[in-house]
Amino acid sequence: MPIHIDETNQVFHIQTDHTSYVFKVLEHGVLGQVYYGKQIHVRADYANLLKREWKNTTPSYSLEDPGFQLDAIKQEYAATGTGDFRRPAYQVTQENGSRITDLKYDHYEVVQGKQRLADLPSSFDDDAQDDVETLIIHLTDAAIQLDLELQYTVFPHQDVIVRSANFKNHGVAGVTLDAALSAQLDLPDSRYDMVQFSGTWSQERHLIRTPLRSGLQAIDSVRATSSPQQNPFMMLARPTTTDDAGEVFGFNLIYSGNFLDQIEVDQWSTSRILVGINPTDFAWHLDPDESFQTPEAVLSYTDAGFNQLSQQMADFYAAHLVNSKYVKQERPILVNNWEATYFDFDDEKLLKIAKKAKSLGIEMFVLDDGWFGHRDDDHTSLGDWFVDPTKLPNGIGAFADQVHDLDLKFGLWFEPEMISIDSKLYETHPEWLIHVPERRATPGRNQYVLDYTRQEVVDYIYDLMSTVIDDTKLDYIKWDMNRYITEMYSTNLAANRQLEMAHRYILGVYQLYDRLTKAYPDVLFESCASGGGRFDLGMMYYAPQAWTSDDTDAVERMKIQFGTSYGYPQAMMGAHVSAVPNEQNGRMTSLETRANVAFYGAFGYELDISQMPDDEAAEVKEQVAFYKQHRALYQFGKLYRIDSPFEGDGNVMSWIVVDDQQNHAIATRYQILNHINAPYIRFYLRGLDPNKQYRINGGEATYYGDELMNAGLFMDKIFDEAAEVKALADYSSRRLLIDVVE
Ligand code: DGJ
Repeated sequence: MPIHIDETNQVFHIQTDHTSYVFKVLEHGVLGQVYYGKQIHVRADYANLLKREWKNTTPSYSLEDPGFQLDAIKQEYAATGTGDFRRPAYQVTQENGSRITDLKYDHYEVVQGKQRLADLPSSFDDDAQDDVETLIIHLTDAAIQLDLELQYTVFPHQDVIVRSANFKNHGVAGVTLDAALSAQLDLPDSRYDMVQFSGTWSQERHLIRTPLRSGLQAIDSVRATSSPQQNPFMMLARPTTTDDAGEVFGFNLIYSGNFLDQIEVDQWSTSRILVGINPTDFAWHLDPDESFQTPEAVLSYTDAGFNQLSQQMADFYAAHLVNSKYVKQERPILVNNWEATYFDFDDEKLLKIAKKAKSLGIEMFVLDDGWFGHRDDDHTSLGDWFVDPTKLPNGIGAFADQVHDLDLKFGLWFEPEMISIDSKLYETHPEWLIHVPERRATPGRNQYVLDYTRQEVVDYIYDLMSTVIDDTKLDYIKWDMNRYITEMYSTNLAANRQLEMAHRYILGVYQLYDRLTKAYPDVLFESCASGGGRFDLGMMYYAPQAWTSDDTDAVERMKIQFGTSYGYPQAMMGAHVSAVPNEQNGRMTSLETRANVAFYGAFGYELDISQMPDDEAAEVKEQVAFYKQHRALYQFGKLYRIDSPFEGDGNVMSWIVVDDQQNHAIATRYQILNHINAPYIRFYLRGLDPNKQYRINGGEATYYGDELMNAGLFMDKIFDEAAEVKALADYSSRRLLIDVVE
C-alpha cells in the first residue's frame, strides 16, 4: 500500500520504496506540502513540520485567523491574488473579470493502477503488476462551481510519482484558465543547484549547473515544440551531489509543446518548483460542463546521485511509458541515406547502398527526405506524400520490395506536420497553412506548418501515410519536424480560443501518432525535429527512439549523448556513424571512435557505404558484428556515467553499461586532445559486483569488482596492443569489455 491516509489529521503520505511525499489539508481547506525526500516513517501527523511563525508585513487569511498567511505556507497547488505573492500553479479568469478563486479541499479517492489519459501521452499500468496506486484529491470553488482534481500516481518500485491536474467547470458561466500547471512542489530551503539541459540546434542538451538564488529562474519553450534550446527535463541537486552520491530531484513532463520548468526562491529561502504547460501564450476556455486535463509531470528523488536518478527514471519509462513491444526489443542497425546523398539520388544509387548494407550485416535501409513530390531541395513538396517518379520510377512500393528482397527492413522519412507553398496540397488547401489572414506568414527552412487543430488535416495526412505504409509494408518511420511555429492562429478557432492553439496543435499531432501506432503496431517510429528538437517524454510514448542531434561529429556527440543520458535512456538515442571530414565541422575522427560513441544508442550508419574503401568496409563489417553481439547490453544495460565532459577541461568522457546480473559490462573512455607528458590515468569503473572477478578484453588477468571500482584501472597499453597508438592520439577511445570469470 503505497498511499497512507490519516483521516483524522487529513494527512496524505505517498510512499515509494525509498521516498516519501507528504501533504496535508490545512486550515480553510488549503493543501499544504509537508515533505518530499528520502523515505520516512508513516505517522498520524507531522505537526512539528507545520509550525509557523507570524510574518510581519505579510497578509493574513482573515481578521479571525491572522496567523494563517498563505505567502508563508508551503502549498500543493497555489492560487494567486489572495496573499501568496509567489507565482501560482493556476489562474482562472471568470465572467466578471476577476481572477480570484478559492479552491478548497473537498474529498479524496484512491484507485488501483493507472489509466492512460484519453488525448495525451501518459504513464500507464496496463498489466497492473507493479503495485501502482492513484490518489485523487478533489477541491472545489463553491462560488463558481469550479472543481479541481489533483492526481498523484505512485510507482513505488521506480521511486516515481506522476502528477497532473484536471479542471471541471460545473458552473453556469464560462471561465478561462490562464495557467494550469501539472505540478507544484514547495521545498523548505534553497540549498540546491538547478541542473538544466540547454543548447541549440546541433548542440542539444548540454548540462548547465547553477546554484539557486533569490527570485525566479526558469527554462521554457514558446516554440510549440519542447525545443533544442531547453529540454523539459530538469534536476535540483544539493551542491555536493555527484553522479555517484547525494540528493537529487528529477522533474520532467510527458509533453512535446510549450513547457515551463520554474523555480522561485522566495524571501524566506523556500523553493517553489512549477512544471507544466507554459502559461505564456496559453489560455483555455471552459464552457459549462467542459474540463481540462493537464499533461503529466514526472517527479523522482534519490539520495544516491545522478546515476541512480537516471536509472530509476529509465526503469519507470520502460515499465510505464514506452510501448511495451519495444521496451526490450533490440533496435535494428540501420543505414540512412541523408548524409550520403541528400536530395540527389535515384533508385540505382539507393540500391547500391542497400546492397552494400546487406553485405556488411546492416539490418535496415532508411530512405530519408526527398522521395516524394518533386523535392530536389527544401523549398518544395511537403504535404505531397506521393512518390517522385523521376527518382523512383517504379513507385515507392516496388522500391520497398527491392529492399525487402535483400532481406533488409525498410524505413521511410516523413515530415507529416508541414506544407510547402510549392505543393499540390497548398494549391488545394491554402487555408490549412498556419497563418493570420491578411498578414505575412513567416517561413522556417522555407516551409510552413499545417493546422493540426483541424480534424480534416489529421484525417488527410493519416490517409496519405497509411497508403504509403501499406504500399511499402513499412518497418520504420522517421517522423521529422523541421521548424518552430509562428503566427500561432487558426481560422478554425473562435477569437476567445486562439490561445488554445499551441496545445490543440500538439493534441492533433498526438492523435495522428496514436492512430498510426495503433493501426501499425509493428512499425518502429523514430521522432526527430531538426535532430534533437523534440526529444521529450511525449514523443517517447509513441516513438521509442529519437534522432538525438543533426550533429554527427563524434567529439561533439559525446557531450550531446552524455547530457541526454541524464534524463533519457540510451535506447532512445538515435546515434549514427557518419563520414569524415564531418559534414558540419570538418573534423577527422577514426571510424573506431565514431562507432564507440554511436554504439551507446540506437546504432546506425549515415554515409555512402557504397563508396567506402575496402579496408573501411571491412572495419564496418566487424563493428556491425560486434554490435549485434553486445547490442542488448549497449541499448538496455544499466548506464553509469563516469567522467563528465562538462567538468574540468572537458577533455575526457567515459561511461559503462552493465547487465542485470553484473556479469558483463562495456566501458568506454574517450579522450579529446592528447597531451604530452600527461598524468597517469586511473579509470574507476562502476556498477560491477564487488565480489565477482572479471577479465578485461579477454585478457589473462582477473580483477575483483571492488578493485576495479575503488582502486581503478591503470590505463596503459596492456589491454589491447593494437589500440596503443590510437589510445595516444587525439579523439581516441578505449573500449573495455568486462566479463565475469566463470
Ligand atoms: C533534419 C533531420 O534531423 C535530418 O536527419 C534529415 O532527416 C533532414 N531533416 C531531412 O530534411
